Amino acid sequence: MSQRTFSIIKPDAVRKGHTAAILAKIQEAGFKVVAIKRMSISKAQAEGFYYVHAERPFFPELTEFMSSGPIFPMVLEKENAIADLRKLMGATNPAQAEEGTIRKEFAASIGENAIHGSDAEETAAFEIGYFFAGIELK
Ligand code: CMP
Repeated sequence: MSQRTFSIIKPDAVRKGHTAAILAKIQEAGFKVVAIKRMSISKAQAEGFYYVHAERPFFPELTEFMSSGPIFPMVLEKENAIADLRKLMGATNPAQAEEGTIRKEFAASIGENAIHGSDAEETAAFEIGYFFAGIELK
């Protein structure tokens, strides 16, 4: 059964001009891009998105970074989308990411790691709704 997940091309990847290459990898892996837009978010909006990490020591750094420049939030669809996107992204820390993954190729560090992907169905539902209205998801 087809499943939707949520992803963000992060400010570091956008700044370095990697958006199109990352999208190509995602589409080559069989994902349908249901919705995508370019936008910038405030620190408060980044804090709302990452609220589950609010107590983590890296929270200020993470939310500062995510509001530091344009991002491309998107909704992706395929069978097993959540797990398959996380496989394609590679480990959070690019030093541990496998060959051929997006983070291995495009990420610089654990903080500036090029792409975000939802980790479960409930988080995907929250994250899609945080960035997109129902009318954008037909
Ligand atoms: P992401 O998948 O967007 O979800 C939470 C993010 O927190 C994660 O990717 C990393 O970019 C970031 N993160 C995790 N650990 C650290 C860390 N030790 N220092 C800075 N950022 C981190």
